[in-house]
Amino acid sequence: MHKIRKCLFPAAGYGTRFLPVTKSMPKEMLPLVNKPLIQYGVEEAIEAGMNGMAIVTGRGKRALEDHFDISYELEHQIAGTDKEWLLTDIRRIIDQCTFSYTRQVEMKGLGHAILSGETLIGEEPFAVVLADDYCATEHGEEGVLTQMVKLYEKYRCSIVAIEEIPREDTRKYGVIAGDLEADNLYRVREMVEKPDPAVAPSNLAIIGRYILTPDIFDILRETPPGRGGEIQITDALMTQAKMGNVLAYKFKGRRFDCGSIEGFMEASNYNYEHIYKKKR
Ligand code: G1P
Repeated sequence: MHKIRKCLFPAAGYGTRFLPVTKSMPKEMLPLVNKPLIQYGVEEAIEAGMNGMAIVTGRGKRALEDHFDISYELEHQIAGTDKEWLLTDIRRIIDQCTFSYTRQVEMKGLGHAILSGETLIGEEPFAVVLADDYCATEHGEEGVLTQMVKLYEKYRCSIVAIEEIPREDTRKYGVIAGDLEADNLYRVREMVEKPDPAVAPSNLAIIGRYILTPDIFDILRETPPGRGGEIQITDALMTQAKMGNVLAYKFKGRRFDCGSIEGFMEASNYNYEHIYKKKR
């Protein structure tokens, strides 16, 4: 029985919506207050019991590797000062996890990014986090990946996180339709990448949290380019869904689209009020 040990982070995108800041800095390093987006994703994965962080990067992403590495000079500088605690969390992460990296050499879509990560994952089920979907949970509530891992342990198939969106926004997301299997859980019948509102099968949108069974890699290899000429994870998942092997879970928590300036600013304000101020 396979436990989910690894989490894949596709992080090769250019972050063009945030230019010029993303000119020389990975968008995954944009901070909500004082912590980079990707660290929130890593913390969510750790909470869900994972310790293998597999990051698919690209050119100009070295800051990601430096972030998840020890900086001896810095630690030496602040040892014994009142700033020392600021590095406690990241230091614990580095001690607990292994980080592995591979590069997505060509930008051929999210499905292609995930397939590039196969070498880091191997033959086991794994989670995927899109770091620009930041998911906040209230104090005491379980993180979204923790909620999904529990479902995986029961159902043993691929699972996507979903939320209801306004119909006019279906063009921005993968959209599913399915049959209710349990509370907040659908057995997926149909999934379409970024459909027009007029033909979208529902207003249930996929957000950036997935649990995937490893057969997805063979399927991705066979999946032709779809929407935007890119290899879409949504299309590959549809192949699994045809066999009844995909669930969609309406998670508990609040999600911010940190891939957009508006969502990013909202998440920053939210974390400033709900996390940062409370720690002082
Ligand atoms: C990707 C997926 C899409 C999903 C979205 C969630 O799209 O292709 O199915 O709904 O992430 O954020 P992207 O936002 O990378 O265009």
